[in-house]
Amino acid sequence: MDEIKKYIDGNKESFINELKDLLTIPSISTNAENKKDIEDCANWLQSHMHDIGLENVKTYQTEGHPIVYGDWLNAGDNKLTILIYGHYDVQPVDPLDLWNSPPFSPTIVGENIYARGATDDKGQAFVHLKSIEAHLKVKKKLPINVKIILEGEEEIGSPNLDGFIENNKDLLKCDYVIISDTAMYDYDIPSICYGLKGLCYMELDVTGPNKDLHSGSFGGAVENPINALANIITKLKDEKGKILIPGFYDDVIELTAEEKEEFRKLPYNEDEFIKELDIEEVFGEEGYTTIERKWARPTLDCNGIWGGFQGEGAKTVLPSKAGAKISMRLVPDQEPEKIEKLFTDYVNKITPKSIKVKISASHNAKPAITPIDNDAIRAAMKALEHGFGIEPVFMREGGSIPVVNTIQDLLDAPSILLGFGLPNENTHSPNEHLNLRNFHRGILTSAYYLEELSKINN
Ligand code: BES
Ligand code: ZN
Repeated sequence: MDEIKKYIDGNKESFINELKDLLTIPSISTNAENKKDIEDCANWLQSHMHDIGLENVKTYQTEGHPIVYGDWLNAGDNKLTILIYGHYDVQPVDPLDLWNSPPFSPTIVGENIYARGATDDKGQAFVHLKSIEAHLKVKKKLPINVKIILEGEEEIGSPNLDGFIENNKDLLKCDYVIISDTAMYDYDIPSICYGLKGLCYMELDVTGPNKDLHSGSFGGAVENPINALANIITKLKDEKGKILIPGFYDDVIELTAEEKEEFRKLPYNEDEFIKELDIEEVFGEEGYTTIERKWARPTLDCNGIWGGFQGEGAKTVLPSKAGAKISMRLVPDQEPEKIEKLFTDYVNKITPKSIKVKISASHNAKPAITPIDNDAIRAAMKALEHGFGIEPVFMREGGSIPVVNTIQDLLDAPSILLGFGLPNENTHSPNEHLNLRNFHRGILTSAYYLEELSKINN
């Protein structure tokens, strides 16, 4: 391993330069105009994976964006086979004017590299490619069998991945799945994540009168769709943060006293949290701590809202239309489809006759808890300790990674969530970045991990 570490240390700069190339490609999965960029990104990865020595490297087309696959399966049957998953698509960049450097011109400031996708997830996925490269260049082999898939639709809910996995069970068959698409607990606290929230994402399109009206002539006599929508949204959650949709909490598994105690043991400073976000106080469901709210309680949030006149100055108008996008983050054992129905029934019930509401669902993801009592977790703890020189902690997350459940169901393989990001790296927001020291420590950890996993008998 010394030689491998030497290779990783010696190539620090060139790894960063390669990451810069990858981060230059604007592979935004939601935007139709970025389709070509998504293809370019898949091609870049395909040739890079080939260059570092992976075999059977291939881009699989789907009805949406392509999936890039590669493997190295020459370690023998008595060695484990892992599947590394990552995603190369990124979120949109707006609002663009809040970025300090252009989102697709990777810029290093201090220890950080700034670009859309730096931490979510190109930088984190790249960690594993570099560790594989180090093993293959130095030892001409990997200590275990490795498969890797990089998808281009994670940020839009992985609509074509389930089908791909279903149709390629043999190709993807593995003992464990390794995913680096979460954050560490803190800068010097390496972590294994064992819980992700699910997601149910809805859109409300409200229509009042069939055209915009003069707000003086018609105001007071005709319902305003923006006012009506605001009323509907207000009725979804009370002032203490409790969600008011009947049946919403029915399947929620309450935290055990032990788990609460584990959460409480983690270092946490609420004042710092408040200060960093420039808020006066935290807000959330009554009776739970901030960590419990973030990791283990379901939530409901308006992600976007529109309607009426948004231009400069005042235009007196009673608009015809208004709309909102609302997400609900779910915890075990809430089912997105069931929540979708409860939400729809409730909104229909509270919608006044004076307006029409169209309710539609976009992507869903199931919540996940991954097992932590297995050899691959124990190996991950050792690898993290080796890579960071610090003992790791267990944590949960509020975000979602749809594939974790699919893989559990279709391939019967547990996921190991090894995050190398940090909680304040502006995921999905302007000035997204990745800490380059963690990028380096991540590569070392991944390299040690392959070695640790080879000690497990298959
Ligand atoms: N990397 C995130 C998931 C994540 C976010 C994990 C925060 C831990 C903390 C992932 O790329 C993501 O953003 N997922 C989406 C999934 C959705 C579109 C189905 C999410 O959580 O919004
Ligand atoms: Zn994301």
